[in-house]
Amino acid sequence: MSGQRVRVASAADVPPGGSCLVQVDGKDVALFNVDGRFFAVGNRCPHRSGPLVRGRVEKIEEKCAVRCPLHGWLFDLESGRCLTRASATVPTFPVLCEEGQVLLGAQEGAYAGPSTLVPGS
Ligand code: FES
Repeated sequence: MSGQRVRVASAADVPPGGSCLVQVDGKDVALFNVDGRFFAVGNRCPHRSGPLVRGRVEKIEEKCAVRCPLHGWLFDLESGRCLTRASATVPTFPVLCEEGQVLLGAQEGAYAGPSTLVPGS
């Protein structure tokens, strides 16, 4: 990951299966821990601003996706692309775990792959 990194949470605060709302550059970002892999996407659904942080995470083949809690649009957590409406996307943010802290890149759209939490780090 290049560029500025911002500490947004302790990894312990977002256990596997969990999510939380964080802020980067004044933007609301939904942070997800899927089996120890962290993903970060913009929190506002482009349909009607549903809070994606409250959505259910689903695994579809190799992909992890979040379903908007309001009307069910489904977003790939890696690319931010909507899997149910081809033209819709949400921004993604690079995630890094270091020494038990979750860091996000401040630039959206620079997805660098999910970060896996190393136990004890
Ligand atoms: S607000 Fe997300 S699908 Fe409608």
